[in-house]
Amino acid sequence: MTEAEWPASQAVPPGPPPRKKGLVPALRYYLHFIRGPFAFIRQRFDEYGDLYRAENPDGALYALRHPDHFREVLMTRADDFSKKHTALESLTQVLGDGLLTSDGENWKRQRRMVQPAFTRKRMSGYAAMMVDETRAVADEWHPGGEVDMGREMVDLTLRIVCRTLFSYRIDHKTDQVARAMRTLNGAQATLNLTPEWLPTPGRIRANRAIQLLDSIIYDIIEQRRNATDTTAQPHDLLQRLVDAVDSEDRDSRLSDREIRDQLMTLFLAGHETTSHALTWTWYLLARNPDVEEKLHEELDQVLAGRRPGYEDLPSLPYTEQILQEAMRLYPPAYVLARRADRDTEIGGYSVPAGSEVVLWLYMSHHDARWFPEPEAFQPERFQDEAREQRPKLAWLPFGGGPRACIGQEFAMTEARLILATLAQSFRPRLVSDDPVEPRPAITLAPKQRVRMRLEPR
Ligand code: HEM
Repeated sequence: MTEAEWPASQAVPPGPPPRKKGLVPALRYYLHFIRGPFAFIRQRFDEYGDLYRAENPDGALYALRHPDHFREVLMTRADDFSKKHTALESLTQVLGDGLLTSDGENWKRQRRMVQPAFTRKRMSGYAAMMVDETRAVADEWHPGGEVDMGREMVDLTLRIVCRTLFSYRIDHKTDQVARAMRTLNGAQATLNLTPEWLPTPGRIRANRAIQLLDSIIYDIIEQRRNATDTTAQPHDLLQRLVDAVDSEDRDSRLSDREIRDQLMTLFLAGHETTSHALTWTWYLLARNPDVEEKLHEELDQVLAGRRPGYEDLPSLPYTEQILQEAMRLYPPAYVLARRADRDTEIGGYSVPAGSEVVLWLYMSHHDARWFPEPEAFQPERFQDEAREQRPKLAWLPFGGGPRACIGQEFAMTEARLILATLAQSFRPRLVSDDPVEPRPAITLAPKQRVRMRLEPR
C-alpha cells in the first residue's frame, strides 16, 4: 500500500526531516528558532500545510494552526490529551502541581475548588477594587512625565490580583516580583534544554527567583493562618483554600505546599498575561491615533468623566474590541502545548500515544484566511458581522474546552476598566519611534521597554 492509499487515520502528515540527537543539534535548532521564532514556524507551515509532524529526538511533535484542529485537541478529543508536554516542565518547576499544570481527577478537584472565585457575581465586587487601584495609579502619574509602561502594568495587575483574590496588599514587593519574572522568562530556554540536576548559571538564577516568589507566597499564607480574629477574615479565594478539606481524607486540610502551588499559579497566571495584553494595547493605540480617537469618543460619551463600573462594560463595546484586537496581534499565551496520552488522531492523521502537540494560536491569529491584512490593527474585526465571517476558534487567546482560562472574565473586566479609567485622563505617547518586537518566552512580552510620555487629555 502506498502512503496515498492509507486510510486517513493511519496516514503520516508531512514535515521536516528528523532532527539529530544531542545537545549541539538541540542548541543549533534552538538558536535558529530564537533568531526569528515566528518566521521559522510560519515557514514550516507554509511548506508543509496546516498540520506538520517534526521528528524530534524525544519523539514526534505535531504542530497545528487550523481552528478545526484546535477544536479536536481542546474539545472533541480533549480526554486523549494531557499537559505532560516537555515545554511545560520548566513552568511546572515554578508552579508545582496547581490548576494550570495538573491533569485528570486532581485537576478536576482543583478546578471545582477555585471556580467559585470566578463567577460573574464575584466580578462586580472585584470591579470596584480594580478601579480603586487604577485610580491610585492615575493619581501618581504626572502629566508630561515618562513611564515604563510594561512595569506600570505589571505593578497594577499584581496589586489587583493580590487584593481581589487574597486580600493582600503587595505594595513595594511588586519590584521584586517583576525582577524574578524577568529572570524566569530569560532562563526558560536553559531550563528546558538542560537536565534538572545540572547547576547552570541560568538554573541557579531561576532557583533564586523561585525562592523569592515563594517567600512572598508563604508570607501571604502565613499572615492568614496567623490571623487571630477569625470573624474578620475575608471570604476570598485564599480563605476557601485555607478552609478546604481534602476530598479523599475529610480530616485533612490542604497542606501549605498545596495552597502554595495554587496561589503561585493564580499569582503568576493572573498578572503576567493581563499586563502584557495592556502594554501591547497602549503601544498599538499610540501608533494608531485614529483608533485612540474613537476610544476617547466612546469613553467621553458613555462615562462623561465619571469613574467606570462593572455595569458600564456592556456600553463600552469599542473598548473591548481594542483589547481583543491587541490580543489577536500579540496573544499573551501564543502557543498551547499538549501530549497525546493514548493513540488518537487529528485532522484524519494518526497521532500515536506519547506524541507532543503544539497549537500555534499566534499563527491562526495572523492567518490572512481569517484576518485579512493580518498585521493591521483593526478593532472593527471584532464586530458581530465580521466575527461571523470566520471560524469561531480562529481567535483563541484564552484557549478553549474544559482547560480554557478560568480567569477570562476576570482579565477582560480588569483590562477594560484599566483602559477606560486611564484613557479618560491620559493619552500616552511613545518616547521612541522604533518598533517594539514581541519576545516569545513563557508569555509574549515586549522585547524592548515600552517607554511612554504621559500627555494629559
Ligand atoms: C489576558 C489575560 C489572560 C490570558 C491571555 C490567559 C490565557 C490563558 C490560556 C490560553 C489558558 C489555557 C492554557 C492551556 O490550554 O494550556 C489559560 C489557563 C489558565 N489561566 Fe489564564 N489568561 C489570562 C488571564 C488570567 C487570569 C487573570 C487568571 C487568574 C486570576 C488566569 C488563570 C488561569 C488558570 C488558573 C488557568 C488554568 C485553567 C485550567 O487548566 O483549568 N488567567 N489562560
